[in-house]
Amino acid sequence: MYDVEKIRKDFPIFDVLVNGKRNTFLDSGASAQKPRCVIDKMMSIYSNEYANVHRGSYFLSEEITSAYEQARQTVQKFLNASQASEIVFTRNATEAINLVASTWGHKFLTKIDEVIITEAEHHANLVPWQVLRDEIGFELKICKIKDDGSFDWDDFCKLLNGKTKLIAISGMSNVLGTIFPIKEIIASAHRVGAKVLIDACQLAVHQKIDVQDLDCDFLAFSGHKTYGPTGIGVLYGKYDILDSMPPYQYGGDMVNVVTYQATTFDDPPARFEAGTPAIVQAIGLATALEYIMNLGFDNIMSHEKELIEYTKQELNKIDGLVQIGSAEEKGGVFSFIIENIHPQDLAFILDKEGISVRVGHHCAAPLVRRMGHESVVRASLGLYNTKEDIDVLCKALNKAKTFF
Ligand code: ALA
Repeated sequence: MYDVEKIRKDFPIFDVLVNGKRNTFLDSGASAQKPRCVIDKMMSIYSNEYANVHRGSYFLSEEITSAYEQARQTVQKFLNASQASEIVFTRNATEAINLVASTWGHKFLTKIDEVIITEAEHHANLVPWQVLRDEIGFELKICKIKDDGSFDWDDFCKLLNGKTKLIAISGMSNVLGTIFPIKEIIASAHRVGAKVLIDACQLAVHQKIDVQDLDCDFLAFSGHKTYGPTGIGVLYGKYDILDSMPPYQYGGDMVNVVTYQATTFDDPPARFEAGTPAIVQAIGLATALEYIMNLGFDNIMSHEKELIEYTKQELNKIDGLVQIGSAEEKGGVFSFIIENIHPQDLAFILDKEGISVRVGHHCAAPLVRRMGHESVVRASLGLYNTKEDIDVLCKALNKAKTFF
């Protein structure tokens, strides 16, 4: 039984008033709130267990090294990866995607190749490929989405061919909420010999991901959106592919033999984790993932499904409100505008009511423009949101309308 009121009590932030009002937090798509177990775990490590990893032969260092590597195993379990060495800790998902572009991209892409992304990508899965294209000269193709935000299979089939070397696609849009048919896209890509990178920042919070079942080649997600800390992200890569890639950065902890003349590099994942890693953040992330796994994705998904339907229905009742993104396969992300009210004004009024939403282009400016806007308001759901949150939002939106 999913007791959302009990779950809310795990998150200390909900005891805090916002502008003197009940804290109605609807911006988990930007960054999710943290359960007490994550906060306590990180405090406890800094207070009682802290040392550097992989470097000391003393008690504290050995213990923390084991906790850090255990965190990698927790991520492996979370993604159902076949081995922990397929999990690379990065600073965030942006760094994970940049890592693939810089290393795999530089080694394997040439000017006669093609890379496909979609119109629905976050800047983090668009800009690295544009910059690499400008350097190497390959063709960067942008697959269309339909007006409701769903994937355009016809366009994808037109773009895909034997020259396609990589498809980099979001699992779930941070603006439209669309959940893309990644399993089928991966199968199509593999038929022409292309690799697939999934930007799972939004998806990883809302659905169980099984990288072996998906058969994706790379997958990136961030810690802070999965109820963990900032400063930590994950790159999953199939081991043989990671092993074929050169290092991303150079320094301590990623080398085998170093002389003044030359250096040999360690195996993955160490090869990609130069310098002291985000030790406490990695362990905090693992604590957050355990928290999610203990709640159970089936339970989280059925709670969110009900809330998604409720949100769609309640927003639809508001005259003049236009929802952006209405694909059938949709997660808990709701972008909208209200006719004749600037989105920034709307967000300002909501804030005064204790409601946190994001406004603007959501780091996906071309997508927001493609949907016909410069700026939209976005309410995004987390596992702690309730129908009351949606009622508070809708009441405030109706109130905002009376000001204009
Ligand atoms: N990518 C995050 C968002 O969509 C920050 O808000």
